[in-house]
Amino acid sequence: MRGVVYVSEALVYFDKMALESLAAEAAALNFDRGITGYLYFEKDRFVQYVEGDDDIIDELMETIRRDKRHRVLHTVVEHDLKERRFPSWHMRQLHRKELLDVKLEHLLTDYLVYLDSKVDTEDDPADDEDLESKYPTLIWGMVNRLSDLRGKLGAY
Ligand SMILES: Cc1cc2nc3c(=O)[nH]c(=O)nc-3n(C[C@H](O)[C@H](O)[C@H](O)COP(=O)(O)O)c2cc1C
Repeated sequence: MRGVVYVSEALVYFDKMALESLAAEAAALNFDRGITGYLYFEKDRFVQYVEGDDDIIDELMETIRRDKRHRVLHTVVEHDLKERRFPSWHMRQLHRKELLDVKLEHLLTDYLVYLDSKVDTEDDPADDEDLESKYPTLIWGMVNRLSDLRGKLGAY
């Protein structure tokens, strides 16, 4: 299995209703394909985590990248995911108030945006990989922490 987390920038206006219908549509589509994860939106940025079979996740990420409603800034992939982190969330929309205790998504968003700014300024693409390989523990540690806390957040 594969786990992917990315940050993107909204290119159209998303109000509460639009976000809810995006997450509901995604959850219905994901349910059929065994994709699980969560979606968070704040300050015009999405952070989404998806997990599932390799081919299915690759295909989903292609579709998501092509979606003109946003621009994907940075993606981090975990290639050999052994166990789902969010087995019961087909696409849970997380809300800010739920995360006040956790504050993890801010860290994760800021970190992925930071990585993206580095990538833009580095001349050698190999350096980008270097940078990512130094921090996977941190990134996946944050995602795992949220997985541990999902009991508190409740089922979708
Ligand atoms: C931020 C964001 C997250 C999305 N997440 C998913 C998702 O988890 N699953 C999904 O099927 N589509 C998701 N979509 C919608 C897809 O981009 C696409 O519109 C949808 O899968 C329908 O694809 P199709 O028109 O090729 O059938 C997301 C779109 C956005 C903007």
